[in-house]
Amino acid sequence: MSREKVLSLLLAHQGESLSGQAMSRELGISRAAVWKSVEALRKEGYTISSATNRGYCLHDAPDMLRVGELTGPLEGCLVGSHLLCLHTVDSTNTECKRRALIGAPEGLVVLADQQTGGRGRLGRSFQSPPLKGLYLSALFRPRMDPRDVTDFTAWVAVAVCDGIEAACGFRPRIKWTNDIVMNGRKLVGILTEMGLESETNSLQYLVTGIGINVNQNTEDFLPEIRDMAGSLSQVLGRPVRRVQLAVHIIQALNRMYAEYPKNRAKYLSKYREDCVTIGSQVQLITATTRQEARATGIDSEFRLLVEYPDGTEAAISSGEVSVRGMYGYV
Ligand code: BTN
Repeated sequence: MSREKVLSLLLAHQGESLSGQAMSRELGISRAAVWKSVEALRKEGYTISSATNRGYCLHDAPDMLRVGELTGPLEGCLVGSHLLCLHTVDSTNTECKRRALIGAPEGLVVLADQQTGGRGRLGRSFQSPPLKGLYLSALFRPRMDPRDVTDFTAWVAVAVCDGIEAACGFRPRIKWTNDIVMNGRKLVGILTEMGLESETNSLQYLVTGIGINVNQNTEDFLPEIRDMAGSLSQVLGRPVRRVQLAVHIIQALNRMYAEYPKNRAKYLSKYREDCVTIGSQVQLITATTRQEARATGIDSEFRLLVEYPDGTEAAISSGEVSVRGMYGYV
């Protein structure tokens, strides 16, 4: 669409003037189409000046997740090579899976300003208020045995920490397996879903969904999660641009996927450094039981190593783990 191309070009030269003629040549569209796109962008809140003989200059941009904002900084990335920016969707994971089933290519990223049916782990919902958070899902098609990708979501957790650090200047921590936390509050949830062909047990796709609390205040969280949830802006004490955050998260996912699965030692070491669960008293929760234990480490399969009060040890690969001092567990 011409408007997204014009925006992308103006953003690449933000603060500089570009003549209508140069833009029309570069983009292969008419000068009238350039002018129409500029007018439309102004109506959407972009501050674009124009002067005879000098052309158009972009001075200020609203914080909008749109293809024209993302394509420039994501040039050359496999993850983000196909983008779908929606205002409202039931769930970016569900949309990404729908597209995976009809053959969408690896690297597709679906982003939305709000989700009406955001999904979390264990059938829970993920609260996704409009324009406050970043909700995105990425499609991967690794040619691997499904049994070998169980650590994928842990790699994603490290990538999300990398992306937040690049965008915000602080590095959050990981609560095993893949909650991203800071100061005892959950900032990010990650949900990875897999498509399998049952006859051959072959992996069709992985869809990883990332939900980041970006600019929520306390009252933006529902009462039931108010004591557990936090946002990036609460940590920083200032608003965070979702577009810039999206770029850094997708770039970090792209770097991670280029190294997956061969650079396991690097991601394991980063995971261990980031993991706030190690050394903590934990509760291992199943549908019917709650067991106290102490988390002692992460093994080479990204499993949580625990020691029970009777001195026996175990490696936990799935399930829910509460960490003492977090999310109201005292
Ligand atoms: C969790 O903490 O239980 C996981 C939450 C995952 C939420 C994200 S938001 C983007 C993507 N779409 C969804 O419906 N879920 C994930």
